[in-house]
Amino acid sequence: MKKYQGLSILIVSLFISTVSAQRKPISARVDSLMKLMTLEEKIGQINQYSGREATGPVTRKQTYQLNDIRSGKVGSMLNVHGVKNTREVQAAALQSRLKIPLLFGMDIIHGYKTIFPIPLAEAASWDLDAIRLSAHIAAREAAAAGLHWTFAPMVDIGRDPRWGRVMEGAGEDVFLGSAIAKARVYGFQGDRLGGTDAVMACAKHFAAYGAVAAGRDYNDVDMSERLLWDTYLPPFKAAADAGVATFMNSFSTLNGIPATGNSDLQRHILKGKWNYKGFVVSDWGSIGEMVEWGYASDSSDAALKAITAGCDMDMQSEAYKRHLARLIKEGKADVKLLDDAVRRVLYKKFELGLFDDPYRFCNESREQETLSNPQHKLIARDIARKSIVLLKNEEKVLPVSAKVQNIAVIGPLVKSKRDLEGSWIPRSDTSLVVSLFEGIKGKIAPGSNLMYAKGCSIADTSQADFQEAINLAKQADVIIMALGESYSMSGEAKSRTDIHIPGQQEALFEAIEATGKPVVVVLMAGRPLIFNKVARKASAIVYAWWLGAEAGNAIAGVLFGDYNPSGKLPVTFPRSIGQIPISYTQYNTGKPVKSPDDIKYKSAYIDSPNSPQYAFGHGLSYTKFSYSGLKLSKSSISANETSELSFTLTNTGEIAGEEVAQLYLQDPVASVVRPLKELKDFRKVSLKPGESKVVRFTITKDYLSFFNRHLEWVAEPGNFKLMIGAASDDIKLETALTLVQ
Ligand code: BGC
Repeated sequence: MKKYQGLSILIVSLFISTVSAQRKPISARVDSLMKLMTLEEKIGQINQYSGREATGPVTRKQTYQLNDIRSGKVGSMLNVHGVKNTREVQAAALQSRLKIPLLFGMDIIHGYKTIFPIPLAEAASWDLDAIRLSAHIAAREAAAAGLHWTFAPMVDIGRDPRWGRVMEGAGEDVFLGSAIAKARVYGFQGDRLGGTDAVMACAKHFAAYGAVAAGRDYNDVDMSERLLWDTYLPPFKAAADAGVATFMNSFSTLNGIPATGNSDLQRHILKGKWNYKGFVVSDWGSIGEMVEWGYASDSSDAALKAITAGCDMDMQSEAYKRHLARLIKEGKADVKLLDDAVRRVLYKKFELGLFDDPYRFCNESREQETLSNPQHKLIARDIARKSIVLLKNEEKVLPVSAKVQNIAVIGPLVKSKRDLEGSWIPRSDTSLVVSLFEGIKGKIAPGSNLMYAKGCSIADTSQADFQEAINLAKQADVIIMALGESYSMSGEAKSRTDIHIPGQQEALFEAIEATGKPVVVVLMAGRPLIFNKVARKASAIVYAWWLGAEAGNAIAGVLFGDYNPSGKLPVTFPRSIGQIPISYTQYNTGKPVKSPDDIKYKSAYIDSPNSPQYAFGHGLSYTKFSYSGLKLSKSSISANETSELSFTLTNTGEIAGEEVAQLYLQDPVASVVRPLKELKDFRKVSLKPGESKVVRFTITKDYLSFFNRHLEWVAEPGNFKLMIGAASDDIKLETALTLVQ
């Protein structure tokens, strides 16, 4: 009887505190709740399980997980999605003593039901509004399916295309990467957390994961502090400034310390210098992995190191659950560290409105309606076509006239659907995917003859089917080839030492090209591939990445001229694996190559030019643009002044088009050697034929600043070179600006 009396007093007091808490600010509500929590319940809040096997094994059965949820030992689940499922699991959490709702997270990387282009492809659009919209639709669908949280965006800078995860990021550049990081955070989260059409975002993988040694996934990272601050941290800072709700640490080390146990990164930089108030989740099992790394002696030591370093939530290693209480009782871990972590997690649950209604995201009719919204497909098509990069177009073979009589489509990716979805999708549904073949079929004039041969499969070792394709090619007026990678060749744990187009595909291209017919090559991949023969001999090359469900319609739209391509490479395409890691931010060196014929004792390769196959920022259009009349409102400024840079961009061709005008800067003499070019800003400008527009940039001290040798953000007085380009290797206009003391 006593027991029941105690319980009812507790329930009544909980009810009263909840009601009165509703009027208080979130921090006070969190404090009141924390006062009620036992040590074990607190630890529960920072323990996360996965509902299914994903990038690691699920160590516990569902019944075990549900029991833990009911007893308040779990704060979050990943990979449980769909209203029915999340409702069921949330109901278990509401049976726990304090009824604290769970957070449901999942990797919604480029779409939930509607599959958008992979993030690297979208980065090629340089269209921040479109990128934001794509993230917003993904979030809207995910939220309608019961999810509160996506483990995206990945904001790791990627300069090594051997690393399979370049597909998940925004490419190699600091400025573009930071701008896209912000756009994605705003897209996923909406104006503020709590909307039922938005989810929490997660900036990952903190930090420098993109620089894993030799491009091998999960490897170590050895990096100077300056490179870290200059290049790898800014997109994370941008995400934090945009209010990203969470961060994820990384499987990699940074200068010998695993990111998960790295207090320089998590405590000093993120939560200290940047004053970040969200929470940090570990990567899958990465707390436990510190034992494998040889940084922790066992899982208990790993738990201690991770919580001390500022890793708030444990994804799937159970190290916190198993050891934290004892570590605290033994006085080894400070309870304040735990309280801080729990407070951060609870704060987000309040912000999401889960204490007001734990089932806010569990509405069956909203789920049904949102997931069948026909608008989403159209939005996916729009960003897909904006993501396409026209690399080459000799003698204007593109666009193909719809009236062309005989078209041969050849290659292993012509009819593929699954590959177009790319990796990192919640579930594949190829019935929603438009293949390239279907896209082309929808474009050609009635009566045209569309012929198809596969020629080989993606990773074939045999050329047995070449002849059939060659015979077909001979009958064609134009040939379109679709070559590239399968969806499982780029992504997590998909590093490759050889990034040439796989298998026999380039040989197939050569055999088809030998017919003397014009060959248009459409390349589909999750990373920059190497394809020197195609680059040399194809009449036209369209880089189409993995464009998602609407890929076929988007590519066909470009091939047949319904859409004028406007994408620009967000990443450098090397000529050879030996040039990697590669980016456009090269240094002059003390022995620069001044003429390609004179490389003796120069900073050069003796067997290859230094230049890439296709440079960062490169991308053609079906029209032409001219750049003229560069002006600076002031050629000399002091630190608190600005100067307006302007120039005229004209569409000199016959059709409407969009150009991405890029502003680069060089600080030619500085206390730390600076690159020859750094992107500082860009504008995507739409122009009708013959139309001109004045493009303006306001140059502030910030454009001129960099991290000096003491890691201070400074602009040093002196001269600067400002360049306007159509690509990093195609500078159209330049001028000088002086910063005076
Ligand atoms: C990846 C993360 C991902 C997590 C959960 C890990 O293997 O590195 O990016 O969010 O799995 O799926």
